[in-house]
Amino acid sequence: MMMTFFLVFLGLLVIYILAKFLYKSWWYPISIQSLMKSQGIRGPPYKFPNGNETEIRDMEMKSNTGHIELRHDIFSVMQPHLQSWIKLYGRNFLIWHGSEPELIVTDVDMIKEILNNKEGAYVQRKFGGPLLDLFGNGLPFSEGQKWSKLRKVADYAFHGQSLKEMIPAMIGSAEAMLKTWKSYEGKEIEVYEQFKLMSAEIISKTAFGSSYLEGKHIFQMLDKLTRIIYMDHRKTKIPGIKTSGEIESGKLREALRDSIMLMLKKREDNVKTGQAESYGGDFLGSLLKAHHDADVKTRISADDIIDECKTFYFAAHETTTNLLSWSVLLLASNPEWQEKARQEVLELYGQETPKTESISRLHIVGMILSETLRLYSPVIYLVRTAARNTRLGGLTIPAGLGLYVPPLFVHNSCELWGDDAHLFKPERFAEGMAKATRDQLMSYLAFGFGPRKCVGNNFATTEAKITLAMILQHYKFTLSPNYIHSPTVVLNLQPKHGVQVILSPL
Ligand code: HEM
Repeated sequence: MMMTFFLVFLGLLVIYILAKFLYKSWWYPISIQSLMKSQGIRGPPYKFPNGNETEIRDMEMKSNTGHIELRHDIFSVMQPHLQSWIKLYGRNFLIWHGSEPELIVTDVDMIKEILNNKEGAYVQRKFGGPLLDLFGNGLPFSEGQKWSKLRKVADYAFHGQSLKEMIPAMIGSAEAMLKTWKSYEGKEIEVYEQFKLMSAEIISKTAFGSSYLEGKHIFQMLDKLTRIIYMDHRKTKIPGIKTSGEIESGKLREALRDSIMLMLKKREDNVKTGQAESYGGDFLGSLLKAHHDADVKTRISADDIIDECKTFYFAAHETTTNLLSWSVLLLASNPEWQEKARQEVLELYGQETPKTESISRLHIVGMILSETLRLYSPVIYLVRTAARNTRLGGLTIPAGLGLYVPPLFVHNSCELWGDDAHLFKPERFAEGMAKATRDQLMSYLAFGFGPRKCVGNNFATTEAKITLAMILQHYKFTLSPNYIHSPTVVLNLQPKHGVQVILSPL
């Protein structure tokens, strides 16, 4: 009797697992494919078990051989699968990551609808594994009330008066970096690693009130996590079995948690023992204040703070490092723009240190940065998931469908930017963003668009303007013959072998 019951149970379990497996790997893909096809959306056919991952990986390996000529239309090199499928299937098409469908959207009106949505129809995509360990559920991955709370704290900390008060620290760090450049005068210098150290120092000082040395351990762990994500990406995963990367990233998550908790405790103890009157006026102080808020509704948890710290340590230094590195590459290979920018800086400041009030008058430097971000947008993935069945540009979108907006395609589009879209032409931005985008602001996606637009936008451009201005005040630079043009994506778009220039003092 017992045996029969067990066998029936086992049989039902096997049928359940099989039905679930068949639903996920066959019925669901087939039904989504036919729903989208009935609306005119085509794409490479779904293949079991990897979807289109193998084709994508093969095309990427073929196109990005590790060394390309110094051209700026890098979309076809970085995302050859999108390039060839747009030609084959049109502006919007469906692809497969395993059995997860993703609609690629390049139509700007639809992009606007997705990124500007305020009714929660499209939510941030949830990740697991190493990506979750890197960011947790911080601001970029939160929704609803939690997102509003965290966004308010971050908006306050990185804009207006708070941002102004950070400028002296930014100048101080750029000055310290330039002191070390003296030993490179007349020689080659690799700037990516230089900017990485400097921007880590800046976010440590301005947002977390610590020196780079104090935050060094955190940065090293974040770097390690980023590398794990890179190695793990597109590895075939067996459900229920952790990859070695996932195991290591779990350990790093715990170590990061301990380091950040220690930093928080130090501040809390200072207030408890009367050594400090408040938690501090910086970002970390605002987070702690929100954690101790008397109103439960606006209070944030200790885990929220830990996730925010990881997010901001990472987001603030990786992206800005890449922006600065690509802009040095572009100025080294476009000496006329380097000279124009230098003239602007020298007219404003001579050899004096830049002034807080006049950073916004670095107009040409600003144009150069905008054009750099158009051609070498550090963030090349803007992804969402449909939270419910919804309508998008006349299409019926089923709940759970992934959506992907590719900034590199949009930025390289001749239709949006003209036939010279692939050229470095900062003059596009001479009369502001609206004019440059012909009033279609969503055709510039370097900082995203809509309510989830980058919260560190002004912080990053201020830091980059100051750094570039101070370099231009002291040095001319030309591209070193050792530079290898090899843009690569390790979460952000970065120069694989760094950027080497020859430094000549003015
Ligand atoms: C050149 C530098 C930067 C670039 C190109 C950049 C790019 C972006 C982009 C494209 C998004 C939108 C993502 C989406 O819609 O899914 C974003 C969001 C975000 N960025 Fe940045 N970023 C930069 C610098 C920074 C800095 C310096 C910080 C922190 C101080 C930061 C913190 C964030 C955060 C927290 C979000 C999420 C905002 C939200 O979901 O409400 N970023 N960034």
